Order: sequence, then structure tokens, then C-alpha cells
Amino acid sequence: FQLKVLAGKRVLITAGPTFEAIDPVRGITNLSSGKMGYAIARAAREAGAEVTLISGPTALATPHGVRRTDVQSARQMHDAVMNAVGGQHVFISVAAVADWRVANASTQKMKKQDDGATPTLEFEQNPDILASVAATTSVSGWPYCVGFAAESERLEEYGAVKREKKGIPLLVGNIGHHTFGQDQNSIMLFDDSGHTVLPRADKLTLARQLISEIARRIEQRSLL
Ligand code: C5P
Repeated sequence: FQLKVLAGKRVLITAGPTFEAIDPVRGITNLSSGKMGYAIARAAREAGAEVTLISGPTALATPHGVRRTDVQSARQMHDAVMNAVGGQHVFISVAAVADWRVANASTQKMKKQDDGATPTLEFEQNPDILASVAATTSVSGWPYCVGFAAESERLEEYGAVKREKKGIPLLVGNIGHHTFGQDQNSIMLFDDSGHTVLPRADKLTLARQLISEIARRIEQRSLL
């Protein structure tokens, strides 16, 4: 980036999967690698922003100049985000947050039973972090909230609906759901004027394009 399009802006990003414990040594997670969120954190930093990254468990190195907080569960991610969100100009919710946590997680390691009896897991719904942040923007208008969607079908339709439902100005849809762990992606941007496609490219290229798109929309908004 030559142009520091986010100079003076504070950007909060979530990335990676969450890990929902079953017992102290077992849990439920998903295939998110964190690559897209980390690429966006790097691109935002390159664009001059002060970047805070709240990350689920990943094997990735922290992008240069980015402040990172590690969490495991969706509830921990929710709390870390809510602690950090004050004063942020942009919130980009890239993490693949588990929809449910295990309601009957065990504090001790569960023992295999001699009679072959198997445990039954019960679930509780996790807080929607993006919707919680979006609900706080009504007073100041900040942070500008960006969500992600990984639909396996009818992205054009579901993307637009999801953006409205979450109450956010910009939603990024992954085109195809085979993006998890891959180095490339193609995305569709949904805003109040419709949708545009950013064609297949490596995640850092897409991240830089996305940051430009966000910066342009913030700029337009502050001119209004
Ligand atoms: O509703 P759905 O999970 O498809 O929405 C995806 C978007 O919402 C992503 O931006 C994701 O980071 C965010 N999300 C969240 N907290 C949840 C579930 C999803 O922030 N509990």
C-alpha cells in the first residue's frame, strides 16, 4: 500500500475458529484457518490503521505491528471484543464463531465407560458478537461494521438478507464454501446499493482490496 487510506483509524478484527470445550482435553471447533482475517489485519495495518486482532486458535504468526489477543471460546471472543470495541472506527468480524457451545461440558476429563455407554452432548446458543457490536453503533455511528458470510448456496439472496438481519452496512460473502484453509478466495460485497464481486485472488490481495472498499465507504459516510 502506498496510500495510507486508514491513517488515524482504529480497526478491530476477529479471526479464526472458536473452540468450545467438551471437557478439559476435548472440544468442538471448525475448519477456519484464520488466513483471511489475518490477511485483513495485515492489510489494515499497511493502510495505516491501529489494528487489534482478537483471534481464536490458529497456527498463524501475528502480522507486523498488530496487537493480538488470543481466545478460545465464542463467549471469550465476545467478552474480548466488547472490552476492546470502545473508540474503534471499524469492526471486521471475520471469525467463524461457533453457533453453539456445549451446555453440559465436564470440568473433569470424561472417562470411557467399560459398558460402551456414550456421552450425550447438549448445546446452548452462543452470543452473536457481530450483532452485539452492530447494536451499539446507533449513537455515534461507529464502529463501521463489516460481517462475513459463508453460504453454501444462493449467496446473492442470502447475503443481502444476512446484511439486513445483522444490521450492518457491509457484508462480505465467500463465493463457494471451499475457502476454509485455502490461500485463495473470491468474495462478493453487499451494501445498501447492491452487490459487487471481487474475483478470485490470493487472500492478501483480496484483503487489500477490501480495506480500500471499506476506507472509501467510511470516507463517503463522513462527507455526508
Ligand atoms: O449468522 P452467521 O454465523 O452466518 O454470520 C456470520 C457473521 O457473523 C460473521 O461475520 C461472523 O464473524 C459473525 N458471527 C459472530 N458471532 C456469532 C456468529 C457469527 O460475530 N456467534
